[in-house]
Amino acid sequence: MEIDVFTLFPGAFAWFEQQRHVRNALAHGHRLGYVNYRDHTPLSAGQVDDTPFGGGAGMVLRVDAVEAALRARYGCDPASLAGAGRRVIALTPGGRLLDEGIADSLATERALTLLCGRYEGFDQRVLDHFATDQLSIGRYVLAGGELAAMVVCDTVIRKLPGALGRAESAIEESFSRALGGAPEYPHYTRPAEYRGWRVPDVLLSGHHARIREWRLDESRRRDSGAGAADGSLP
Ligand SMILES: C[S@@+](CC[C@H](N)C(=O)[O-])C[C@H]1O[C@@H](n2cnc3c(N)ncnc32)[C@H](O)[C@@H]1O
Repeated sequence: MEIDVFTLFPGAFAWFEQQRHVRNALAHGHRLGYVNYRDHTPLSAGQVDDTPFGGGAGMVLRVDAVEAALRARYGCDPASLAGAGRRVIALTPGGRLLDEGIADSLATERALTLLCGRYEGFDQRVLDHFATDQLSIGRYVLAGGELAAMVVCDTVIRKLPGALGRAESAIEESFSRALGGAPEYPHYTRPAEYRGWRVPDVLLSGHHARIREWRLDESRRRDSGAGAADGSLP
């Protein structure tokens, strides 16, 4: 897969690129590249944003600056990218909420383009004419699209062949088909008892069928909300 991230802060991805699953994926031939809007803007002094028509606080990422960056990378009118079958995903707080199903579908693409916003966000014409999708990582507002793009890349990249040291890890985990879309069951490791907190006996029994049954029960229990640990949040 080839992923292009359009951003004003390519340096933000340095840590992300060092993560083992990302390094593994890149070593397997997948590609992660960055385009800085500022490097291609047709405006002077690296300008990429402007004040909103109609007034209001903040600055808006200009459509001509985004178009210039997309043209520089793809050598065509970015309004034609969707027709050419390319997924151009704008990160927006109000977009479709990212979930495991969307990540599965993105992981089957040959190429992805991620557009990171900043300031007040994109001029609406970027979303209307260049983007094929708008994705949100949650109903809250971040300062910029970089963290959101890393979240999308992270969940997609770990699904790519060669990314995980043990591919089985991704087969049975939270929201996977193997668990019927439910959250994963609890895990424990040594010591078997700590401060009087004991690991469930079944996990120490060596009885594989009973362990399996216990895990599936726990997963279903969590799915029903019984195992959730967020009860104290408002
Ligand atoms: C400060 S936000 C803009 C918020 C915008 N004025 C609004 O109220 O919807 C700047 C950029 O951060 C990114 N962003 C912020 N929150 C996000 C979220 N929850 N999911 C995806 N991207 C987000 C988007 O790229 C957005 O253009």
